[in-house]
This record gives sequence, C-alpha cells and structure tokens, in this order.
Amino acid sequence: MRIDLNKNWSFTEKFTEPFLAGDSGGETSVDLPHTCKQTPFDYFDESIYQMVCGYAKTIEAPPEWAGKRVFLCIGAAAHFAEVFLNGKKLSEHRSGYTAFKTELTDALEIGKENRIAIRLDTCETLNQPPFGFVIDYMTYGGLYREVWLEVKEQCFIEDVFVKPEGSGRISTDITLAGDCSGMTLKSSVLDGEKVIAEVVTAPGGNPEFTVPAIEKWSVSNPKLYTFRSVLEENGRIIDSFETRIGFRDVSFRQDGFYLNGEKLKIRGLNRHQSYPYVGYAMPAGVQRFDADILKKELGCNAVRTSHYPQSQAFIDRCDELGLLVFTEIPGWQHIGDEDWKKQALENVREMILQYRNHPSIILWGVRINESRDDDDLYQKTNALAHSLDPTRQTGGVRCHKKSHLFEDVYTYNDFVHEGDNKGCEKKKDVTPDMNKAYLITEYNGHMFPTKNYDCEEHRLEHALRHANVLDAVAAENDIAGSFGWCMFDYNTHRDFGSGDRICYHGVTDMFRNKKLAAEVYDSQQEGQDVLEVSSLMDIGEHPAANRGRLFAFTNADSVRMYKNGRFISEAFAKDSPYKHLAHPPIEITDFIGDQIEKNENFKPKQAKYVKDLINYSSQHGFSHLKKKHIAEAGWLMLRYRMSFSDAYALYGKYNSNWGDEATEYRFEAVKNGKVVKTAVKSPVLSIHLNAEASSTELSDAEAYDAALVRISMRDQNGNVLPFYHGGVKLETEGPIALIGPEIAMLRGGTGGTFVRTVGKGGEAALVLTAENGEKLRLEFNVTAESRDVKTEY
Ligand code: GAL
Repeated sequence: MRIDLNKNWSFTEKFTEPFLAGDSGGETSVDLPHTCKQTPFDYFDESIYQMVCGYAKTIEAPPEWAGKRVFLCIGAAAHFAEVFLNGKKLSEHRSGYTAFKTELTDALEIGKENRIAIRLDTCETLNQPPFGFVIDYMTYGGLYREVWLEVKEQCFIEDVFVKPEGSGRISTDITLAGDCSGMTLKSSVLDGEKVIAEVVTAPGGNPEFTVPAIEKWSVSNPKLYTFRSVLEENGRIIDSFETRIGFRDVSFRQDGFYLNGEKLKIRGLNRHQSYPYVGYAMPAGVQRFDADILKKELGCNAVRTSHYPQSQAFIDRCDELGLLVFTEIPGWQHIGDEDWKKQALENVREMILQYRNHPSIILWGVRINESRDDDDLYQKTNALAHSLDPTRQTGGVRCHKKSHLFEDVYTYNDFVHEGDNKGCEKKKDVTPDMNKAYLITEYNGHMFPTKNYDCEEHRLEHALRHANVLDAVAAENDIAGSFGWCMFDYNTHRDFGSGDRICYHGVTDMFRNKKLAAEVYDSQQEGQDVLEVSSLMDIGEHPAANRGRLFAFTNADSVRMYKNGRFISEAFAKDSPYKHLAHPPIEITDFIGDQIEKNENFKPKQAKYVKDLINYSSQHGFSHLKKKHIAEAGWLMLRYRMSFSDAYALYGKYNSNWGDEATEYRFEAVKNGKVVKTAVKSPVLSIHLNAEASSTELSDAEAYDAALVRISMRDQNGNVLPFYHGGVKLETEGPIALIGPEIAMLRGGTGGTFVRTVGKGGEAALVLTAENGEKLRLEFNVTAESRDVKTEY
C-alpha cells in the first residue's frame, strides 16, 4: 500500500533540535514538491537557498500496521538529509538527485501519532557530489519531489528489474524481502488491460519468457507494455509491483547508435531540471511537459539529463513519447576525496537501480561531467554499472581528447565550432579507441550566449551555429549523434552566465519560449509542418540598413516569397549548402525576382546584373561588393551609361521601399507541390497578448499540480515582438495560485508564469492584463481525482 505524503508539512528555514519533537516556532505549512527558498528571476545570490532547514509531518500509525513493515520514500532531498522518527535518527542520504527509502517499522508507535522530521542541509559546502568547486548551475535545496509511505507485509517484492528485448524475450531480476517460502510469484505482461503473457514461479527464481507478437518500442512508435509481478500466498495477494516496459534493442557500435538494429543519428539537447522561482521544485505535470517540448517543439529524438538523474515523471514521459535518454550521475568537473568518491559510486548504484526499467534510457553516464581522468574511480563506476545493468552501455562525459576510456562510448563535449570553422571534430581526433562508439554530448552553449531580445543578426548566428554543428555531425558516419547545449536558459552561479545569474545558453528561454535556434531543431522533425523565417524584415534593425542574410527554417521542400502579394522568388532545400541535414535551412537570396526584367525595360543581361548587384548589396552593403560585382557595375556604366545614382534609386525601389507603401512579405512553405505553412512579416500595426498553458486540466490529489503558462506579445501576424519589454498583470480566480510574482515581465516579447493548485477541485482561471489594457483569460479545471502518475522507485 502506498500513502502519499505531500501535503501540509511543517517547514522551518532554521533547523534546531526541538524541531525533532514538535513545533520549534516560526514554522510554515508547505506542500511538496517544495523549494527551501523561492528565488527571484535573476540577480540573486546563491547563498539564499543554502541553509540547514527542517521538514516535519505527523502521521497516524493505525492498528492495522502492527506486524507490517513501513517505509518512508523520499523522491529527492537536496542535498544531505537525516531522517528522524519520534526524535530518533533512522537514516541519512547524501545525494540531492536520487530517491531513498527509510524503514520506519521499529521506531513507529502503533496506534499513536508519530512525528517524521527531516534535517536537510542544502549548503553547497557539503563534501559530496556535485560540490567542492564551482558549478555552472544552481543546486536549489528542498524536498523537491514527492514523498510517500509504503506499507508492506513482512515479505514483499523489493525490486524488479525487467530486461525486455526486441525479440519479445524477457528476463528478470526479482528481489524479494523476508521469508517468502510457500508463496508463488505471478509475472505477467499486459498490453493495456489485457494480459498477453503470464508465468508463475516459486519465489527466488527470476522468470524468463518470451512474449509473442510484440510491437517494438521505438522513437516513432513508443509502444509500452506493463510488467506486473504479484506475490501470492494461497490465493491472497501479499504484494505486487508494476512497471511499464518497452521491447527494444539498443546498442552503440563503432559506427554509431542502433535502435532495433537500425542506425539512428541521435539529435538531442541537454536539459537541466530547473525552473524560474522554484528551482527544482516543480510538480510532475510540468516536468513531463519538458519532454513534450523536446519531442514536439524541438524535433529532438533524445535528451541528456545534464548533470544528474531527473524526475521520474520526466523520464516516464520520455518513455511515452519515444525520446531517448542519456542520464548521468551528479557532478561537474570536480572530483573530491575518498568519501566524496564513495558517494559518487553510491550515486551510480542509486541511479541505475531506480531508473533501469525505463525503455527510453539508452546509456548511463558514469563519470563526473568534464572531470579529469581518475582510473581507479572510473574503473569502479563502470564495473558497478555493468553489474547492475548488463543490458546497457556506459558513457562518461569529458572535455578532454584521448582520455582514459573505461566506458563503452566515448562521450565528448565538442566546443570546436566558433561560427566560421568546422562544426565538429572528427571521431579519430578525439577518441583513443576507434573500435568503440563516439557521441558528442555538448556543443555551442557558452560559445555563443544568446538572449531572445538580442539583435536579429545575433539570433540568426546562434541559429546557424546550431545548424552548422548538426550538419557537420550528420556528415560524420561514425559519430552516433549529438546533444546541443542546451534546451533552455538557466540560473547559474556568479562565476558563470551574463552577470545576472543567468546562462543564456538555451535554444529557449527559462520559460521554454523558443529562440530562433529552436527552429533549427523543430524543422528537423517529420511530425508537423514547420516554417519560421529568420527576420522580421525590418531593415533598420541591421547595421547600415543592410538586410543581412535571410533563412527559412522549415521541413518543406521550398519556400516562396511574395512582396505585397507579388511573387518574387522560390528557394529550395535541395540547393541549401547544408547538405547533410534532412531539412536544411533554406537561404533566400533573391528579393527582386523578375521585377526589374518586367518593370524597367532593360536588356536581359542588364536586368540580371542590376538584380545581382541589388540582391548582393542589400545583404552585404555596397562597400562589400565582390570583384565580380564591381566588374559588372563597370560594364553597366559603360554599356548602358548607368550612374551610381541610377543604381541607388533602383536599390531604394527594390530593396528598401523607403517612402513607398508598407511592404508585406509572405513566405509559403511548399511540400510536394502544396503550400503547407505560411508566415507573414510586415510593419507592426497592432500588438496582441498571447498565453498558452501547458495543461488546463489539473488535478490535486496525491500532490498539488501546476501548469507552465508561456506568455508572449505578438504582432498582427502572430510574430513575437523581440524588442517588447513590458509587464503583464496576473490574477487568479478559483482554486489556483501563482508561483512567482504577480507581474510577468516580458523580455524580448516572451515570458511566463506558473499556476498551481491549492488543495481543492473546481473551475479556476488566470486573468492576464497587458500594459495596453488587453486582457486574456485562461480557464483551468481542477479535479481532486488521482492522475495516473507512476513514481517508480
Ligand atoms: C560545459 C558544461 C555545461 C555548461 C556548458 C556551457 O562545459 O558541461 O554544464 O556549463 O559547458 O556551454
């Protein structure tokens, strides 16, 4: 039996001994997930979340619990937790990123009230991973995942590791606790509600069997089944265990990654598990939504959970969506003393035991991210990983070439790309062992921090750098794939970021609003039609009013451009210099089309030269003409007596349209001859508030629920206004509350907020009011029914 314990904890920012026994004064009532300190959006000092705090909860131990075993399960306690029951210390746990279980049985007073108290040290001075040196992310403290009780018989199922293969074969490692002799263990596989295979064994064995006619789990068809084990004694159920499984074969080979025998290029992003204001303490629904964003809005097939194991809810969603996961132990560059290393090994154990039933996980990261070689430690982490999970390979992220390789995959952060050079290193130049697989685990990031309100050329360069690396990786047949740095901007320590405690390394902002670079990823997908044009076509945004380069990020075959309704030109994916991407960025270079030919009464060659000159100079400026253009200009002057002022007049007419009617550009993405998507760019005439919730159906049962609300200010054509910086007033109605401030600041036209449930069901709404008076109302339905969120442990 599971009893959720997420509501009404007593919390104190200052733990003292009396807190173990009862209220020590100054406590507040909080719900889990909980952050020990809410933080501002930016410009805050990381010391504010560092403290020794206390959490306490009183539970009734009913008489039925006599003779049972009772466990307290804590999803995450950042970072050093000591668990007490009725004043007696029962356990401690030294990792903020994995779950742990404490047996309460012996200290529990049946028929009475029992006080669970947790002393939680959230300081970054602890001698355990990831601490000991600097860290490029914040390590927020708190009981930030769910907490629950498990009430078991004396004999129970302690752990089940299911090893399904693509062939339908299943082998298992089942650990039982207590004396289960005389009982039976029924193991079944279900497709939905239907049992499709079942075996009954005596306890102690590890059932192995084949399930006929299964559908394999893959990125395009992430078919999940349920594996259930039931421990029975004379027909009475003693305990049961359920986990979702997927039948698939994964392997990293010398020449790449294979899923079910087929080579698949990994295209992913790195993800932290942080959010504005509450750090790590975000309920399951919002954690899950990040997986949806990665798959559906960023077209990724993979994610790296940098730099620690993340919420089970997030990984569950990766299972459901077919998003491959590379997960790793906590740590950042630093390796500490022997105690510290012991904990790193423990972290390998906990990570693997707690996450190994997820079909989406394809690789274990068993090195401290970007740490130096430590042969003894890494021989041990690899041996441990292989013994706990013989079905998966290991990697371990490093930033050094040719370092000692005990892992199966050389996983390397390749930051060679600087915008105008190669996109990635060759495998042979990085790995010491060409027979093993090679995977790029980071690129870009700090090489080109970008805000969604940076100038257009900067945002375009950011996008192109991502395209450059993706294209280069796609060209290398022996690179398994790559993970870009990173999915979204994140709060960081003073040693990193832009001085405001933010690293602007994301392809989305902290609220997961897309930057232009996000479109490079999105356009690689097949799931839906994508078209984003890199410019708002306001030439004054560019130096010397030169238009600069213009790209369409699309998964269509071509893009047609119309100016004030007149067709100008069509640019094709097949002509893109990005030869290795399935859907390369398409550069649009012809802004004139046949207008000069049709309007100017020029000879064909004259029309062509004039057009080339205007097209080129509108992108690069008159002072950057190539020799070829200068020769052509000379020819035009001689042959047709054209002067510079003639040319300039034509430039004004066909490029800038100064003084003329406002120009509207329409772009059409064309796929198989059909227009599948349209984008319109024209001078802003009106601005509009836009807000979307990650979910409008919320539940408040086992725990409170929350939704991410992404807010933007857009023009009449739906384009985000990159230079809009204004506030949006937020008001709630009904059983929801805001997480964070009552004013959402839009930075570069985008921002966001979160709403959470408050323990009741009913109709709720978030009312948003922009500075121009525009109002939006988002309605939510809060049910008090259980969600189907499995927190496997
Ligand atoms: C890497 C590191 C990441 C992040 C990134 C920024 O060195 O592993 O955590 O700091 O750089 O580009």
